[in-house]
Amino acid sequence: MSWRLLVTGGCGFIGANLAAEGLRRSHSVAVLDSFRRHGSVENLRWLQSMDRLVVHHADVRVYNDLRRVLGETRPDVIFHTAGQVAMTTSISNPRLDFQTNALGTHNLLEAVRQLAPDAVVVYSSTNKVYGDLAGVRFVEQATRYTTPDYPAGFDESLPLDFRSPYGCSKGAADQYVLDYARTFNLRTVGLRHSSCFGGRQLATSDQGWVGWFIQQAVGIKRGTVKGPIAIAGNGKQVRDILYAPDLVECYFSAVDGMDKICGQAFNIGGGMANSLSILELLAFLETELDVRVAVAKTPPRPSDQKVFVANTRKAAELIHWRPRTSKESGLRQMIGWVQLTTF
Ligand SMILES: NC(=O)c1ccc[n+]([C@@H]2O[C@H](COP(=O)([O-])OP(=O)(O)OC[C@H]3O[C@@H](n4cnc5c(N)ncnc54)[C@H](O)[C@@H]3O)[C@@H](O)[C@H]2O)c1
Repeated sequence: MSWRLLVTGGCGFIGANLAAEGLRRSHSVAVLDSFRRHGSVENLRWLQSMDRLVVHHADVRVYNDLRRVLGETRPDVIFHTAGQVAMTTSISNPRLDFQTNALGTHNLLEAVRQLAPDAVVVYSSTNKVYGDLAGVRFVEQATRYTTPDYPAGFDESLPLDFRSPYGCSKGAADQYVLDYARTFNLRTVGLRHSSCFGGRQLATSDQGWVGWFIQQAVGIKRGTVKGPIAIAGNGKQVRDILYAPDLVECYFSAVDGMDKICGQAFNIGGGMANSLSILELLAFLETELDVRVAVAKTPPRPSDQKVFVANTRKAAELIHWRPRTSKESGLRQMIGWVQLTTF
């Protein structure tokens, strides 16, 4: 069946990958973006080179923008990825963060309730809704922290604990998304992501750490990056990294399974097998690229979880989704993409 698919933030990293897959599957695809993000214009050009695409230059902070876009597109499926994505920006500009993530998501839900109440909405939430994991026992090892009491990672029963403006704005949005299913019978679901990486990700030092360190290591190899690379904290922080094609598959699986999962949240990541610390990533890059990566340690960032690894059992059971790409394979493909990318 062909959908009318709307991707908010459709020229960002996750959004562009979702829009591209929508085009590949012959859906009718519209993207909405404010083009705030560095690289979003290049991602738009890439999408437009693939196929016919409807583009809405619009801002999720503006309710009337969403009303206009939903009125024009009448979507069956909405992937809501537009967001303020950097923890650091949420601290330097908490109002922008709130307006983009909390108000922007509420604006979208209200517009859906008024204009497209049958649409499926899949929201890009975050593991930051679980806060700093203060009650969890972490063990420091040579290259990483571990969580011996959670050998398969964290599932959705972890208590919510919003920390930092980003945690609050994303957490509020996450809860609104789920509640609009309960209160207004909307067909919504929240995917709480760990760290995602892959092609079309224009990482910065503030967001997209896997892509950022790959860009830096490739720069060292080319001679364009000199001096040590800054890392926040001791580099033993661990995330389960998820490669873009697996992430994309999860969104489409969520739509297929919506009748079973409406109003629910899922922890989505690469799982324990694909967990990685910053130090381990740098060691991998040194070997792959045959470079020496010197680091300069800076103070830990606020609310930087020592470990987050998603237990993805619920997604496997309910939507038959599991990560398929190994971290090594995904990283090698990402290195290849960064080496070919000129913007
Ligand atoms: N990438 C990850 O590892 C990760 C992890 C957890 C959660 N998420 C969530 O996934 C979503 C997408 O992340 P991403 O990595 O693709 O980020 P991204 O920055 O690459 O994409 C976000 C897009 O939203 C657009 N945007 C920003 N403000 C907007 C506004 N007011 N109106 C319309 N568009 C706006 C940007 O221009 C950009 O194209 C975000 O909501 C983020 O919080 C991502």
